[in-house]
Amino acid sequence: MKILGLSAHYHDSAAALVVDGVPVCAVQEERLSRHKNDAAFPSSAIDWCLDRAGLEPDDLDAVVFYERSMLKFERILTCALRAFPRSWRAFPHAIKNTLGEKAWARGIISSHLGVRGRRIVFTDHHASHAAAAFLTAPTRRAAILTADGVGEWATLTTGHGERRDDGTTDITLQREVRFPHSLGMLYSAFTAYLGFAVNQDEYKVMGLAAYGQPRMVDAVRKVIRRTRDGAFALDLDYFEFQTTASRSYSAKFVDLFGPPRQPYEPIDVRTVEGRRFADCAASVQRVLEDTLVDIARQLRRESGLTDLCFGGGVALNGVANARILAESGFERVFVPSAPGDAGCALGAALYADRIYFRNPDRDVPDHPFWGPAVVPDELAQAARDDGGTVETLDDRALADRVADDLARGRIVGWMEGACEFGPRALGHRSILAAPHARDMRDRLNRDIKNREEFRPFAPVVPAEAADRYFDLPPGGARLGRFMSGVFPVRAEWRSQLAAVTHVDGTARVQVLERAMAPRLHALLEAYGRRSGIPVLLNTSFNVAGEPIVTSAVEGYCTFRRCAIDLLVAAPAIVAKRAAASTREPKGDEAWLSESVAESGAV
Ligand SMILES: [Fe+2]
Repeated sequence: MKILGLSAHYHDSAAALVVDGVPVCAVQEERLSRHKNDAAFPSSAIDWCLDRAGLEPDDLDAVVFYERSMLKFERILTCALRAFPRSWRAFPHAIKNTLGEKAWARGIISSHLGVRGRRIVFTDHHASHAAAAFLTAPTRRAAILTADGVGEWATLTTGHGERRDDGTTDITLQREVRFPHSLGMLYSAFTAYLGFAVNQDEYKVMGLAAYGQPRMVDAVRKVIRRTRDGAFALDLDYFEFQTTASRSYSAKFVDLFGPPRQPYEPIDVRTVEGRRFADCAASVQRVLEDTLVDIARQLRRESGLTDLCFGGGVALNGVANARILAESGFERVFVPSAPGDAGCALGAALYADRIYFRNPDRDVPDHPFWGPAVVPDELAQAARDDGGTVETLDDRALADRVADDLARGRIVGWMEGACEFGPRALGHRSILAAPHARDMRDRLNRDIKNREEFRPFAPVVPAEAADRYFDLPPGGARLGRFMSGVFPVRAEWRSQLAAVTHVDGTARVQVLERAMAPRLHALLEAYGRRSGIPVLLNTSFNVAGEPIVTSAVEGYCTFRRCAIDLLVAAPAIVAKRAAASTREPKGDEAWLSESVAESGAV
C-alpha cells in the first residue's frame, strides 16, 4: 500500500511516503523551496517523494493530512467568538487564513495532486505526533506523551502504544489538555517576550536559560498553575494568543515580568537587563521541565511501562528531555528526529497504515536520513565550473585528509548521503570543526552562522567513547542518537571541549553509532588519533536565515559565501583557493596545535 503523509499550513510543511508499511522518503518543504520554515502546501516535497519512488499521484492508495482541518477551524472560530469584541481585529485575518487553506485541505490536496477526495484521509494532529514518536522507535510497548503549541484542540496528550505479536498495532491517547492551556504556547509567549521569533526561536530561550538563575519561578507559576488531576492551566489574564495573532502576552504579563526585550536589542548577560532576561528564560525553562517531569512521572506510574515515546514540538527541548529520563522513572525515552509538525507528515502516513488501514506491523529503520541524497559528481562539476580543483579520495584517505584539516583548525562542510528529516544536522549536512577552543565557537558564530554568542554548539562523539567525555545516565545514549538530550560534559574535559560546552557545563551531544553514519564515525576516529579526543563540533550546514543545504550545488554556494575552508561530499573534496585556506590556528587554538604536535600525527 502506498501512503503519502502531508503536514502543511502552520509552519514547517513536509511530505513523507510510506510503501508497504515502511518509510521510503520524507522531506521538509523548506529543504527544496529554500524558504526557511516554509509553511506553504508542500508541492516540491510531494513531487520529490513521488519522483524518488517512481510513482504518479494516481498510484497512491491514500493521502493523509496530519490534522483534522475542520476541527481546527472550529477551534479558531470558537476562540474568536468567545473573545469578541476584543478579537474583532484578528477575526477577519483568522477566518481568511483558515477558510483559505486550513479548512479546505481536502479540496487543496485534491486539486494539487489530482487524486479523488475519498482517497484523502485525516488524522488527529496529536495522533500524528504520537505515531511519529512511537512507530519509528525500536520498542513494542511504550507510554506516549505529546506536547506542542496546539493542533485542533489538544495541546498535550498521554496514552500508550502497542505493536502486538499478531501484527496489529494500537495507539490510544487517553488524556488531553486542551487549548488555550498549552505548554508550547506558554514557552512561545516567553519566546516573544524575550524578543525572539515565535515558532522558530524557542531553542534560543533554552540556550539563554543556562546564563540565568530561575529567580522568577514563582512569577511563572502565577501564569501557569498545576491542576489537581496532574495537568496544568494557564491564567489567561496574562496572555493574548488566544484572542489575537498579533501578541502572545498581555499588559498584565508585562506588569509581572517587566518591560519586554525589543527584537533588535542585543542581549548582554553582563548587564542588569540582560541578566533579567536570562533569569526569565531560566524560570520558564524550569517550570516547563518540572511540569513535564511530573506529567511523565504520573504516566510512568499509571501505565506501568518502562519506555516512553515523546513527540510534539516541546520534545525539541533537550534539557527537559534529559530531566524526564533522569527523574520520571522511565528507563528509555525515545524522541524522533522530527518531533515537530514536519514529522507529523511521516507520523500521519504511519498512523493511517497501521491504525486506519490495519496493515501489519513493520519495523521502521532507526535513522533520520530520509531526504534527497547528495551527488558527489555535482559537487565536482560545480567546483570545476567555478575554476576550482577537486580531489577524489578513498574512504580511508578521505578521513585522514579531513581529520588533518580539522586538527589544523579548519572548518569543514560535510555532506553525505540522504539529508536528515527534522531540524537537526546529524552528520549528513553538517559543518564540522575542532571542539577544543572557545575561539572556534566565536569564529563560527561570527563568520558563518551570524548568531548570538550565547547560543551553544553541539558535539558529536562515537557511541563507544561517549561516556568518557559526557556524563550520560542510563538511556542517555539513546536520547543522544538524534541530539535530543542535553547532558553534562565531564568536568575534566570541559576546558578541552570549550567550543561545545555550554556556560552551565552541558552539551547537546550527538552519540553516533558507526552503522548510522560510517564515514563520519571513521572521521571521528581519525580525528581522535590526531587530537587524542574523538569529538567534533557539529552544527547544521547553513548560514543565518537559510534552511540547511540539500544539494551539492547549494552546499558549494554556501561554502563559497562563508568561512568554510573545506567542502566534502565523499569521495569528492574541494578546498578554498589561495589565502583563504592557509589560515593557521591562533590564540587558544594553540592547545590543539601543541597536542597534535605531541602526537606527531601531522
Ligand atoms: Fe504540533
